Amino acid sequence: MNLSATAISCSNIAFIKYWGNTDQHLRLAANSSLSMNLADLTIKARVHFDSDLETDTLLINGNPAADSAAQRVFTHLDWVRRRAGLAWRARVSTESNFPAGAGIASSAAAFAALALAGTSAAGLSLSEAELSALARRGSGSASRSVPEGFCQWLAGGTDETSYATSIAPVNHWDLCDLVAIVSREHKQVGSTGGHALAGSSVLQPARVASAPERFERCKAALLAKDLETMGPIIEEDAVMMHSVMMTSQPPLYYWTPATLELIHVTATWRADGLPVYFTIDAGPNVHLICEAQHADQVESAARALPGVSDVLRSGVGGRTRLIAE
Ligand code: DP6
Repeated sequence: MNLSATAISCSNIAFIKYWGNTDQHLRLAANSSLSMNLADLTIKARVHFDSDLETDTLLINGNPAADSAAQRVFTHLDWVRRRAGLAWRARVSTESNFPAGAGIASSAAAFAALALAGTSAAGLSLSEAELSALARRGSGSASRSVPEGFCQWLAGGTDETSYATSIAPVNHWDLCDLVAIVSREHKQVGSTGGHALAGSSVLQPARVASAPERFERCKAALLAKDLETMGPIIEEDAVMMHSVMMTSQPPLYYWTPATLELIHVTATWRADGLPVYFTIDAGPNVHLICEAQHADQVESAARALPGVSDVLRSGVGGRTRLIAE
């Protein structure tokens, strides 16, 4: 006997960042965050429960996953099994359409797709809010990859109330994310470890206290499609998160000289009339945010920099959905 389902999910880029938890195990965020789904950076996940299997297995892009990644996925599947009253083990596989090791957070798309594929295979039919909360337990940012387009994850404070909703559909605004790749090295401390350190920075309380105000201003600008207002807010928010990272104990330095060069050059491009703003996740690569009409220009300007080895481009993406196997 077996049950299976396959789902696809977009990655997302946060404009107001999630950094630090009030509950590390459940991934209850210290502050609400705001993001855009990335249509062109996707992950497919297939979950196949089988009564004959003795153990869970995980393949990532066709290769057996490292123990730590596999354990994280199997623990997530345990939530699904408990909810469905199912004891069967599963064969799980994920496939991304973007280069591995490009420093693009894959956990958001992976856990959103896994949550939908897992629950569907197990015969559960969750509401979008329940699915988002389930994805959140696997990876906080995955909560925001469940609904469509532009999404807010309200921190909530309990397992049931901490989930993401869409604030605007895909066609609301033709915004682009151009990810300037400056390093493909695997980071030494991933997001999960970083969240656990956030509270050790004296700057984290100031960041968390001021986040709701940035969130509201950013959301209003996003809804008004006002990049000139939104841009400086997302840059400030990213730099505040990195200030917390750099003052954690031990400190986390994700930036390289090429990261800083891109920060500077973005401001000079703007001074020359090109409306583009940066944001940076837990890594050295720089996300350049602009309207689609300026994306070609931004992409060629970024590619011309000696420190940039590649540029990945994406528009606004839809919700996590089931696909035919
Ligand atoms: C810097 O969701 O990757 O990208 O919950 O441990 O998987 P885990 O962390 P994750 O953290 C995302 C951090 C960030 C900012 C953001 O996406 O909001």
